[in-house]
Amino acid sequence: MSAGSGDSAPGGGARSGGSGGSAAGGEARAFRDVAGLLASGVAIVTMEAQGEVRAMTANAVASLSLDPMLMLFCPAKKARLARHLERMRQFTLNFLREDQEQLSSYFAGGWRESAPPPFRFVPSQAGPRLEGSLASIGCDVERVSDGGDHWIVIGRVITMHRGVEPHRPLVFFAGQYRAVDFSSGSPAPDLTQVLDEPPHVFYQH
Ligand SMILES: Cc1cc2nc3c(=O)[nH]c(=O)nc-3n(C[C@H](O)[C@H](O)[C@H](O)COP(=O)(O)O)c2cc1C
Repeated sequence: MSAGSGDSAPGGGARSGGSGGSAAGGEARAFRDVAGLLASGVAIVTMEAQGEVRAMTANAVASLSLDPMLMLFCPAKKARLARHLERMRQFTLNFLREDQEQLSSYFAGGWRESAPPPFRFVPSQAGPRLEGSLASIGCDVERVSDGGDHWIVIGRVITMHRGVEPHRPLVFFAGQYRAVDFSSGSPAPDLTQVLDEPPHVFYQH
């Protein structure tokens, strides 16, 4: 793992917040509410540290680059998982199915039942992966960069696993778990066929 330029080392003492000023309470809540209008899937990040499996629910997850194939996720600096970033060499992003919201709550620390929901980790090329998920992508850690009160962990894809069909994702939107209505849909454009630049509109202030 190599730290990006200007980063301080993650792990150990990295419990403090981000760089620069922090948003006032009301503003931060408004930001959270507005940013939460971008629907996302839900992933469980799994990794092995000191002989134990660590797992955390995350939706700050994205596919970053096709060539090379890169993924990213963003753990809060104060999350327990972030303490292990310094030694983390690999991680797996396990995308949840619509009927796995219990696992999302469990691995986010929001589970209130005495017995955990059923789950199993199985070994893969990039360490443990969550059995039965929609899909899993395993990565070697490429870089960890600073992202305010979060870290941006970039990984090079080394293994992929597609779960059995049907592929019905768990969706997170406006603070709620949702499911996709598959009764209708329309194809997105095939961008490999696009020849022209799209029109750009510039606004003057
Ligand atoms: C749907 C959902 C998405 C989340 N996404 C993230 C995320 O991207 N990054 C993050 O640091 N925490 C995220 N969290 C919160 C963490 O899962 C939770 O704070 C963490 O597991 C608690 O960590 P700790 O008790 O181990 O420190 C999310 C929680 C939920 C329910």
